[in-house]
Amino acid sequence: MRSHYCGEVTTKLLDQTVKLTGWVHRRRDHGGVIFIDLRDREGLVQVVFHPENREAFKMAESVRSEYVLQVTGKVHRRLEGTVNKDLRTGEIEIVADTITILNRAETTPFPIDEYHEVSEEVRLKYRYLDLRRPEMLERMKFRARITANLRRYLEGHGFLDIETPFLTKATPEGARDYLVPSRTKPGSFYALPQSPQQFKQMLMMAGMDRYYQIVRCFRDEDLRADRQPEFTQLDIETSFLNEEEIQGLMEEMIRGLFVDLLDVKLPNPFPRMTYAEAMKRYGSDKPDLRIPLELVDVGDLMREVEFKVFSGPAKDAHSRVVALRVPGGADISRKEIDDYTNYISVFGAKGLAYIKINGEGMEGLQSPILKFIPEAVTLKILERTGAQIGDIIFFGADKANIVNDSLGGLRIKVGHDRGLVKEGWFPLWVIDFPMFEKGEGRLSACHHPFTAPQIKDISELSQDPTKILARAYDMALNGSEIGGGSIRINSPELQMAVFRTLNITEEAANEKFGHLLTALKFGCPPHGGIAFGVDRLAMLMTGATSIRDVIAFPKTQTATCPLTDAPAPVEPEQLLELGIRIRKDIKEPKE
Ligand code: AMO
Ligand code: AMP
Repeated sequence: MRSHYCGEVTTKLLDQTVKLTGWVHRRRDHGGVIFIDLRDREGLVQVVFHPENREAFKMAESVRSEYVLQVTGKVHRRLEGTVNKDLRTGEIEIVADTITILNRAETTPFPIDEYHEVSEEVRLKYRYLDLRRPEMLERMKFRARITANLRRYLEGHGFLDIETPFLTKATPEGARDYLVPSRTKPGSFYALPQSPQQFKQMLMMAGMDRYYQIVRCFRDEDLRADRQPEFTQLDIETSFLNEEEIQGLMEEMIRGLFVDLLDVKLPNPFPRMTYAEAMKRYGSDKPDLRIPLELVDVGDLMREVEFKVFSGPAKDAHSRVVALRVPGGADISRKEIDDYTNYISVFGAKGLAYIKINGEGMEGLQSPILKFIPEAVTLKILERTGAQIGDIIFFGADKANIVNDSLGGLRIKVGHDRGLVKEGWFPLWVIDFPMFEKGEGRLSACHHPFTAPQIKDISELSQDPTKILARAYDMALNGSEIGGGSIRINSPELQMAVFRTLNITEEAANEKFGHLLTALKFGCPPHGGIAFGVDRLAMLMTGATSIRDVIAFPKTQTATCPLTDAPAPVEPEQLLELGIRIRKDIKEPKE
């Protein structure tokens, strides 16, 4: 139906006749001449209709925005002064010969041709129209280039693309499962995979050596700007490689991706930082290294101060007292400090103490806490933080996790507010994660329970498990976790011991993971891998602010789809077949 894409017609085709198809992006009537910007996937081209061509002109008069047309015409050079440098096709126009209306369109709920503040609900309800917008189209095209590039690399390095089931048993990755009721086994449920973790490990046990899959994962968890209930991983597993070898292969892949798609050279090798150091300096396990601010521990100086808010946490092993110096921050107003205090209160912070260094000596300091702190301590704080005249130092004192979240969060917020964010890309590996974490008194796996601990002997697990490190690693980029992986446990005894440490009984372990425990007995190779969040990577690389902008058909923050109205009630017969009865008294969860 066409000879070229609209966006591809350039001066190379001068004087040739082309046949184009596409949507009416805009129609302008100019003193007896009609201009139509015709749009397709590859861009826009200007088509001109002169009244001398009476039939075509009449037809062109009747078209409206978003009509689908087929046009034939000759490629002409645009007159000087009418050239549009922003457009690939901006030096030419098509002088129309014939026009066919292939389809009509009603007035769209929002205009496609210029950006309007349209609510996301409406954009998602008419997603097929939203995706027509050149900005969204570019993102989808870019995302396709990302996956094509990653595939090419992996194919070139001996990885096999293998599919794993969606209808399966629970694989824990720290979220709730999506369940699918079984008709053939009433009362039983499949779980949609939170990741293909167990299957990819069993593929290594099967001798596949190198596996990858671009695969949907399902997690029923609280949603944020960088999280979706179904999202895409580039999932990878390898045999007979240690962590350095896996990291080496993976960073080479990411370096290649950035050179090919963004013409950006990432460091070789990526810097590595232990989890402990990342938490200490940035309060985060995915530090944004574009921001030059750092947390500085001052607990040792605060043990004996009169101010209980500081001396209490300073004496407690699970707490921290940290300082965050903001160069040039002495001009931050009282109101802004109140706003920051509010901002960090969502992380549980009870206050935000500060010292402003307005001038020389003690008289130059301004602070609500100086009266509680001896001068000698204040001077040591100034020295340790490297404070200069014109700076502000913020303080956080509380349980370590609250201080990390709040002052780590403040570090990023202030960094953005003060224009301190460096340009560019700052990837790093965060290594030596703890194996276990304690939340609400219960031990859980920091990564997942199949991750190998850094121990020489199983008996070490029965000592203080929170001290044990894991052979786990994350790839962070500009403050986002874009990938995470580990070397796996490859012996059934160690796997069972880790389950026991997590308070999973032998019986429960066999019921949930019996297949994996059995598989581990039949010659399991040393193996390990990683999974990248493809949506997050696409979001970062396209500069989108929400993960939803790089997913063709995403869900809202409440995990619904305004386009299809999913989730939706089903026919009573379907429920009957599945042996399910809906209770009348259930309510929507509050969160
Ligand atoms: P993990 O749970 O760290 O590891 O997930 C890997 C990567 O997937 C992305 N990601 C998400 N992206 C969007 N929405 C979500 N809800 C979401 N959750 C995770 C992140 C993350 O780094 N099986 C292990 C991997 C392994 O050990 O090989 C796993 O799933 O970018
Ligand atoms: P108060 O004596 O409670 O008014 O607190 C004095 C100063 O300490 C105020 O600036 C508070 O914002 C700050 N502050 C209170 N609790 C904390 C805390 N846990 N961490 C840091 N600063 C705090």
